[in-house]
Amino acid sequence: MCGIAGYVGPQSAVPIVFDQLRRLEYRGYDSAGIAFPQGDRIGILKRAGKLSGLGEMLAQETPESHVAIAHSRWATHGAPNDLNAHPHYDQFGQIALIHNGIIENYLELKTELAREGDTFQSETDTEVAAHVIGRLHAQGLSLEEAVRQSLAKFRGAYAFVVLSAREPGTIVCARNASPLVLGFGEGENLLASDVPALIPWTRRVWTMPDDTVAVLTKDGIRVTDVNGRPVEAEPEEVTWDVAAAEKGGYEHFMIKEIHEQPLVARQCLAGRLTDDNRVALDGVFSDHVWQEIDRVNIIGCGTAYHAGLMGKHLFERMLRLPTDVFYSSEFRYGDPLLSDRSLAVFISQSGETADSLAALRLCQQRRIRTLGIVNVVGSAIARECDRVIYTQAGPEISVASTKAYTAQCLVLLQLGMTIAQHREMPGVRVEEVVRDLRQWPERVVEALGLEEQVKRIANEWADSRMAFFLGRNADAAVALEGALKLKEIAYIPTQEGPAGELKHGPLALVEEGVLAVFGATDPFVREKLASNVKEVQARGGRALIITTHDDDTMDGVGDEVLRIPGGKTPYLNALMSVVPLQLLAYYMARAKNLEIDMPRNLAKSVTVE
Ligand code: M6R
Repeated sequence: MCGIAGYVGPQSAVPIVFDQLRRLEYRGYDSAGIAFPQGDRIGILKRAGKLSGLGEMLAQETPESHVAIAHSRWATHGAPNDLNAHPHYDQFGQIALIHNGIIENYLELKTELAREGDTFQSETDTEVAAHVIGRLHAQGLSLEEAVRQSLAKFRGAYAFVVLSAREPGTIVCARNASPLVLGFGEGENLLASDVPALIPWTRRVWTMPDDTVAVLTKDGIRVTDVNGRPVEAEPEEVTWDVAAAEKGGYEHFMIKEIHEQPLVARQCLAGRLTDDNRVALDGVFSDHVWQEIDRVNIIGCGTAYHAGLMGKHLFERMLRLPTDVFYSSEFRYGDPLLSDRSLAVFISQSGETADSLAALRLCQQRRIRTLGIVNVVGSAIARECDRVIYTQAGPEISVASTKAYTAQCLVLLQLGMTIAQHREMPGVRVEEVVRDLRQWPERVVEALGLEEQVKRIANEWADSRMAFFLGRNADAAVALEGALKLKEIAYIPTQEGPAGELKHGPLALVEEGVLAVFGATDPFVREKLASNVKEVQARGGRALIITTHDDDTMDGVGDEVLRIPGGKTPYLNALMSVVPLQLLAYYMARAKNLEIDMPRNLAKSVTVE
């Protein structure tokens, strides 16, 4: 999810790649850098902080070169500082590499290289990749061949862009899973992680397919597969304006981010699942801590709180570990009862939410162990927690959170499995869950296939006066998140929670023009849920049911039924139902022609109490 730029041609390259980065700046990156051939070496300028910091360096002296690559970082490995900023040199200072994605096996590779005498300046996986490529290049392989042959050594998602001092007129890049777009100019060629960084120079663009390598010179772009066989590039003319291009051609950031969820899930799992189907979280507590914990308190606001409810369901149901979930604002003023052996888990996308930060400081005063589940690397909550697990969801721009929520829930599941591994819980089938987790990204792709059906339903029901979101067990937790999305962006009042509570009061609100959405992914309570559906319909309400693909018991029960892909882990099935709920909120808001990415009265990061 980092920003990538590259230029080769007759013009002065450094100002161009800097301008390319500027066009991606709206995502809020944390450091930036540029590499360019300079005599018989590669020069690198880089700096932590906003792009303006790099701009100040360039203002003092702009290096003259006709080739340059540039990167703006959204940290995943290592703090956002000067050393961790890209580009990175190899061991010999002959090549410079920028990278988007995560190399899952970088620690193994780093250990091997260190044994051979390599030393590293940063904590990044990227520098390790630079060393791997650099060694092959130093053995006499061309840069293209060195990149190609090194790909077999990397596990994970990546977009690499490399310069070599020995081949100063060439940029080599490679892609697997992380985005990389080529720009075909006249006597000049470019590349970028996203189309907005190409548009001012060329509108002829082509997204590189997975497992391909491209060589850019001023005269042309040559693409091959990992075996060196030619791949024909088919550039298309983009007609988007700059605003549409920032959203990857989508109308809003929210729908773009909903569609990013398969990639986000991959990134969130990257390097954390072992070959023997266990979970290996990096940098968390040592073994004895997991055995000591007697209670978990999960703390967050809004969507993060809803992810916490999923955590409670998981920890109590699967691990039999008592868990409470608190709104940060209630926790901090609530004089909470906290046992010395408890673990406080703070969930936050931004890592800057004022109430969550205050609650964290309260736990620290009480000497309670704290663990952050945070998206923004180096944010206040990430820094101040004893330990942190990053969600690796990339920058989220839409105020209504989508991809951060799914990543938070995936991290909670990984955390749960980590605890299970240390507490010897024979009832928990970690291997089965991990196998299911591996399939999750592909299943999200399938769930996104419901988009047209959801859009039709949303268009037909956008005039709903009120919406109920109901479920049982984990589906009840997801219901809260579905409701929050709808009220945030479509401004439709909602009532949400356990379906069994309906007739204890909320049923009084059901009448003609009311929509009720039921999460029915849990087979053990489906029959009960079907009665709740009937209660709504008997009073004139319309019912939409979300169930798993293998269930036909709901056919004819609801007015509409959506089937999502399911697996063996009920938690993951419930989580999957959030995808159509996100789409439903989005398309209902769109049908009402509302401002989606910046809903009224709300801000992305709530840094005031
Ligand atoms: O950055 P955080 O995760 O700490 O933010 C918490 C809430 O403010 C946030 O989830 C909010 O509820 C979103 N607008 C939900 O879509």
